[in-house]
Amino acid sequence: MCGIIGYIGNKSACDVVLNGLRALEYRGYDSVGIAYMDNHGASKVVKQAGRVEGIYPLINKANLQSHVAIGHTRWATHGSPNIINAHPHINGDGSILVVHNGIIENYLEIKQELTKNGYTFISQTDTEVIPHLIDYYSKHLGTFEDALTAALNDLKGAYAVAVITTKEPDKIYAAKLSSPLVIGVGKHNEYFLASDPNAILEHTKKVVFLEDYDLAIISRDKLFLKDLHKNIPKHPKAELLDYDRDKVVLGDFPNFTLKEIFEAPVAIKAATLGRIQADKGIVKLGGLEIVATQLKLIDRIVIVACGTSYYAGLVGEYLIEEFASIPVEVQLASEFKYRKEPFSRSSVLLTISQSGETADTIAALNKVKDYGCLRLGIVNATGSSVARLTDAGVYCHAGPEQAVASTKAFISQVTVLILIALYLSDGTNSYRKLLKELELLPGKAQKVLDQADKIKSIALKYKNYKDFMYVGRKYCYPCALEGALKLKEISYIHAEGYAAGEMKHGPLALIDKDFPTLALATDSPELDKTISNLEEIKARGGPLVIIASEGNKKITKLADDLIYLPETMEQTQPILSAIVLQLFAYFIAEAKQVDIDRPRNLAKSVTVE
Ligand code: AGP
Repeated sequence: MCGIIGYIGNKSACDVVLNGLRALEYRGYDSVGIAYMDNHGASKVVKQAGRVEGIYPLINKANLQSHVAIGHTRWATHGSPNIINAHPHINGDGSILVVHNGIIENYLEIKQELTKNGYTFISQTDTEVIPHLIDYYSKHLGTFEDALTAALNDLKGAYAVAVITTKEPDKIYAAKLSSPLVIGVGKHNEYFLASDPNAILEHTKKVVFLEDYDLAIISRDKLFLKDLHKNIPKHPKAELLDYDRDKVVLGDFPNFTLKEIFEAPVAIKAATLGRIQADKGIVKLGGLEIVATQLKLIDRIVIVACGTSYYAGLVGEYLIEEFASIPVEVQLASEFKYRKEPFSRSSVLLTISQSGETADTIAALNKVKDYGCLRLGIVNATGSSVARLTDAGVYCHAGPEQAVASTKAFISQVTVLILIALYLSDGTNSYRKLLKELELLPGKAQKVLDQADKIKSIALKYKNYKDFMYVGRKYCYPCALEGALKLKEISYIHAEGYAAGEMKHGPLALIDKDFPTLALATDSPELDKTISNLEEIKARGGPLVIIASEGNKKITKLADDLIYLPETMEQTQPILSAIVLQLFAYFIAEAKQVDIDRPRNLAKSVTVE
């Protein structure tokens, strides 16, 4: 996704901005640019379709001493990824320079109006209307602040913008609507701007999260904030971030994807730390305490998420219905906005989001804002938009997830969903057994990781196949969907996830010797039925890679390749199985020598709808 970095202070602004953009590279981008004020107050722009490191040689050494700069990494939405469409975008005389995240939904009508007023455009982007619109208003209004305010109030859609102007070369203007933007408060007369706090953590942990309709006017020694709608000043609320950039270090791993797969045991532990006392049968979720009374009265939960988080939600559906006997429905956030389903005050919207910045998920929260129902979140990124929009929630505490493909977050999300199911339950069923299993799970996850070499050798046997089927039943069905997504997104190989029982309703027609199936066939009351499905696949010559429970001998005759999981409960099988499928996808992608951390066409945080 697009990234914004800004700096004003005594350091080399270009250095700070370019290093910050490097820290945002994990989000995926296809062009990059920087605008800065030279020491005579003149503006400079350097941009290209390519990577951040390609910008350095293009910056005049003398200008590295500039003290005001804004930068941008662009993930193309409107217009192809080329230098013309790269940000910053400027007005006719280069006096107004803008970088922008989000989508201006009414940009075409603004463009038409400005064209009628003699403005010309060179790019295909929606962003380019912003500097020209500010320019237009500055010809009719007194101050730059008034012109910028008027322009921003004309925009519809989502934006996080940073603006510099030669009219006031010692200031940065910043504004936010739906797209995240945070101001870092430096120690000595300096301020930072970032679309993700991770990118400026090395400089400061003291931040001000801009809220919707905030306009910030930043000079070296002063941060002024105002509400654009009410046109009144606002007091900046500074917060201290609680994670340390040092943790986000690659260590001995070749990339973040493998590092984060191997963090599964830690992710499980972090998600349960301080939240369970198995011997006493206690589950404590501090983040839900504030709504504990309301939670006793709920009669329906709608889980809304995207991608991997959606698949975690599907596991949650089985869990919460089984342990809390509350009806659960899981919906894709991108489709939820079109539903007209009734939402009573005793319904709950439960969103799941690793980044907490997924536009579709945020839109779901905004859709039900006035329904009077509870809005909850399962989020990894602390202080993110989803975390701030919900009434309560449970943090995953998995630590920053840098790779575009979500791995440890899925592990963490399912763990938190188990905690929530137990928290809402009346303590019957296998409540205590599951609590105890959660304490043992990090060790079992490590045992799965210890099979990485075996999983790799199996994966390499299948690396040249062009199509894969992933199947599972009940708790393993969502994991099959997630496994298929992982293979697709990091190796670019076609893979479909299906409920095992669905195979005979059509997909079986696809199966032949060139169409292998990864089958989740771990011990469960449903195993015999799954075995029948696998026999149907075997009978058509389909290669079978089976993930089974340790000690199960029934399944060996069916498998072309077999990976055993440590004995675990049905409810925790998706967590251990997911680790196998993440490694399977990883090793195939590694053999294909693709950019695993930053798969083509994808972004880490999809902040556009
Ligand atoms: C998963 O590997 C993908 N990167 C993607 O599907 C992701 O899960 C989805 O975009 C949701 O992101 P979120 O959890 O940050 O909301």
